[in-house]
Amino acid sequence: MESNPHLNPPPERGRKNVEVLISAVEIAGRTAAMAEEIAGKLPPDLLIVALLRGSFVFVADLIRALHVAGAKSNMRPQIEFLTLASYGSGTTTSGEVKIVRDLSEDVEGRDVLIVDDILESGGTLHFARELVRRRKAKSIHIAVLLEKPGKRRIDITADFTGFIIPDKFVVGYGLDYANYYRELPFIGTVQAI
Ligand code: IMP
Ligand code: MG
Repeated sequence: MESNPHLNPPPERGRKNVEVLISAVEIAGRTAAMAEEIAGKLPPDLLIVALLRGSFVFVADLIRALHVAGAKSNMRPQIEFLTLASYGSGTTTSGEVKIVRDLSEDVEGRDVLIVDDILESGGTLHFARELVRRRKAKSIHIAVLLEKPGKRRIDITADFTGFIIPDKFVVGYGLDYANYYRELPFIGTVQAI
């Protein structure tokens, strides 16, 4: 796998101004481990609520890792999407969160796992969790690929975290800068934006 250039491109195969922080291989390994943790802790009839747009790549890999990790416990997750926007442009968020596209299924009585790309101020995940809580989910857990410590404005913690990263703006693997860079198969830092 390490030699597959699509899975683990050397930095020069990424973008001129993007430096690899977490490789595709590291992401795959950690995602498999997270799926083990989730399958060991949460019930099999999970409703996964993926926050768009940032989590779409991560959740696609996470559910396939859950298929493997959850084989023994007969995990059979269902997937829902919630598109949120936290206003602000570029590399900062204003903290004001709005629904762009709502869930299409009822969450009442469900064991929900909210999945997002990154936990920074906490505003986005707090908003999503309160929404699901108000709609009477039976239980709510949170999984994030990345977490930036020391940036929290709202006291919220993830139940499952992939990587704790330094306080740098990151892109790739679904994360964007102005809706660019989402296609990169690794997480990188952007120089000079
Ligand atoms: P929070 O509401 O401040 O916790 O930020 C969460 C949202 O901001 C995430 O869902 C991302 O879409 C975005 N975000 C925060 N930090 C970064 C970053 O370093 N790169 C790209 N997007 C980010
Ligand atoms: Mg974003």
